[in-house]
Amino acid sequence: MEIQLYVPAYFRPSADAALIGNIAKAINGEYSAIACYEQLARMAPNEEERNQIVEIRKDEIRHFQTFSQIYTLLTGRHPAPQIVERCPSEYKAGIHFAFRDEQETVDFYLDIADQANDPTIKQHFKRASADEQNHAVWFLYFITKAR
Ligand SMILES: [Fe+2]
Ligand SMILES: [Fe+2]
Repeated sequence: MEIQLYVPAYFRPSADAALIGNIAKAINGEYSAIACYEQLARMAPNEEERNQIVEIRKDEIRHFQTFSQIYTLLTGRHPAPQIVERCPSEYKAGIHFAFRDEQETVDFYLDIADQANDPTIKQHFKRASADEQNHAVWFLYFITKAR
């Protein structure tokens, strides 16, 4: 998918360092979640739960790619993603961690959407925020089942 921004780079006053910092943070979060959910999928107690985590992970890969493209358009550089959160090595702790992380990410992406002036950036972060809300509900469901 090719992303186009409404405002050409040369009109953007050094495209807002705070926004770029937050997008870099979002990229690291997605990168960490992709690694974490690979682990969680392997530890899932049944096929249904494993498949759902694999689907969630596909969304995170999509977010990662989209945010990386936006970052590159804004900065002219490729992001250098890093693992920023340790993923619990035990399944139950893992789904609790994932639930909290998804919930926090919902708010974080809405903040980025508010912060951005470009409609394309706003739209992508609002859409990702809705995905994270949906992920949070799935992890909450797994938590209640695991009791
Ligand atoms: Fe995501
Ligand atoms: Fe998510």
